[in-house]
Amino acid sequence: MYITTPIYYVNDKPHIGHAYSTVLADVWSRYSKFIDQDVLFLTGTDEHGQKVYNAAKEKGIGPQKHCDQTVIRFEELWRNLSISNDKFIRTTDPSHIYFVEITLQHLYDSDNIYEGEYEGWYCVPCERYFTEKDLIDTNCPLCKRATSKIKEKCYYFRMARYQDWLIEYINNNPNFIKPAYRRNETLSFLKNKLSDLCISRPKERLNWGIRLPFDKDFVCYVWFDALLNYTSAVKDDLWEIWPADIHIIGKDILTPHTVYWPLMLRAMGLPQPKTILVHGWWLVDKHKMGKSSGNAVDPQYLIDKFSSDGFRYLLISQMTVGQDAEFNKDLFEDKYNKDLADVIGNMVNRLSTMVNKHFDGLLPKCGIKKDIDNILVNKSIQRRDEILEMIQKNDIDVNKIISFIMEGFRECNKFFEETKPWELAKNDKDRLATVLFSATQAVYIYSGLLHPIMPNKMSELRSVIGENDIGCVFIDEDIVCSLRNKMIPSKILFPKINKKV
Ligand code: MSP
Repeated sequence: MYITTPIYYVNDKPHIGHAYSTVLADVWSRYSKFIDQDVLFLTGTDEHGQKVYNAAKEKGIGPQKHCDQTVIRFEELWRNLSISNDKFIRTTDPSHIYFVEITLQHLYDSDNIYEGEYEGWYCVPCERYFTEKDLIDTNCPLCKRATSKIKEKCYYFRMARYQDWLIEYINNNPNFIKPAYRRNETLSFLKNKLSDLCISRPKERLNWGIRLPFDKDFVCYVWFDALLNYTSAVKDDLWEIWPADIHIIGKDILTPHTVYWPLMLRAMGLPQPKTILVHGWWLVDKHKMGKSSGNAVDPQYLIDKFSSDGFRYLLISQMTVGQDAEFNKDLFEDKYNKDLADVIGNMVNRLSTMVNKHFDGLLPKCGIKKDIDNILVNKSIQRRDEILEMIQKNDIDVNKIISFIMEGFRECNKFFEETKPWELAKNDKDRLATVLFSATQAVYIYSGLLHPIMPNKMSELRSVIGENDIGCVFIDEDIVCSLRNKMIPSKILFPKINKKV
C-alpha cells in the first residue's frame, strides 16, 4: 500500500489546509496497517519554482537557505500531529534531481519533449501560461492577478498525443478519480482539445529549478519536477512499489494530478496510480484559506487548544471528504465538547470510576450476560467488521467510520443509563460486574477503531482500561473476552473547553 500527500510549497508556514491533506493520508495509512498491510506513506516539500524563489528574495536570503529554514516548520508540525510518514521527500534532494534529469532526457530522446516557441500570457504566482481567451480582462483566471504577455523559446511535453487514451482510461476505471464529481470535472476539462504542456522556464527569468539536461539555459517547470516526486521517492524499488495506491490531493490541484501526471506516466511507460482522492477546501467566510488571502489559521494554535489528537479528530470529522468545509472556531469547540469531552471522555471516566470504587480497580469477571449486554457488544463487533471490510476494499470512508464509532460510544453511555450501575452497586454486585465487563468490551473495540484518528488519546484510553498493549490495534475477540485488567483511576482524557476563554 503506497499512499502519498501533495508535496507542499515551502513559500510559507503550513496552515490547516496542508494539515488536512496530511492527517487524512496518515489516518488512511494507519487504517491500512490494521489489516497488516505493508504501508509506505510519503509526504514532503516542493522547493523549486517562482513562488519559493520570490519568498526567499523577500527574506533577502538564498532559495536553498530559505527552503532549509522553512522545511523545518513542516517537519515540526508533522511531528506534533503524530504523522507516521515513512519517507519525507524534498525536491532539492540530489536523488530527486537526478531522477528528474534522467526522466527529462528519456522523454526528450523518445520524442515526448520537443523544442518550440511560446507566445501568450504568463501568470507568475500560478506559474502557468494562458491563452487570451482564458484571461479575465488581462488577469489570471485562477488567482485573478495581473498576467504578462511574453514570447519565448520553450520545450513542450507532447501531452495532446495521449488525450484520447486518457479519456478512455478514466471511463474504464471508475476508481481512478474519486469522488465521482471530480472525475466528471476532469472528463469535461478533457472535452476541449489539450495543448502540449510547456515544461521549461528560461533560466534568465527563473534561476531556481532543475536544469533541463538537453538545454542548460532552461529550468524545468515546477509541476513537472514536483509530480515526479511520487516516483523518485521510490526509485530504488520502483518496479515493486509503483503504482501508488492512493494520491491524496486538494481540488485546486486536480488538473496537474488527473491530466498532466497520468499523461507523464503514460509517456514514461509506467502504470497509473490506482486512486486519486480529491478533497475540498477549508474556507474562511466562504473564501479558500490560504497564504495569499491572508486568512490562514495556524495549526499549532489549534493543537495547543484541542491537543494534537483533538485537532486531528476535528479536522477529519468536520470535513466530508470531497466537499468544502467552513472553518469556524466555535463549531470546533462545540464538536470537541460534544463528542470528545461529553461522550468518549465521560464514558471512560464513568467506567474506570465504577471499577475503582467497587472492585478495587480490577475489572471483575463477567457473569451471565443479558440481552442488553449482548446487544451492546455484538453491535461493536458488527461495526468493527463493517469498518474492516471498508479497509479491505480500500474504501476508507473516514466520515462514516467516525459516525459509526461515535454512535457506538453514545450507546455505551446509554447502556449505563439503562443498566444504572450506580444502583446495582447497592444491591447486585454480580450484575454490576457483568455490566462493567460488557461496557469495557465495547469501549475496548471502539477505542481500537478510533486509534488511527487519535493514536495518542486512544492509547491513553487503553491504558486507563488496563490494556497496555497500545501498539496493537488489531481487535481480536479473544483479547476482549479475556480482559481482566487493573484499571487506573479515572483520568480526564479530554478536558472540557470553556468557551468564554
Ligand atoms: N506544491 C503543490 C503540490 C505538488 S504535488 C506534486 C501545491 N502545494 S500547496 O502547498 O499549495 O498545497 C498543497 C495541498 O494543500 C493541496 O492539496 C491543497 O489543496 C492543500 N490546501 C491548500 N489550501 C487548502 C485549503 N484552504 N483547504 C484544504 N486544502 C488546501 O499545491
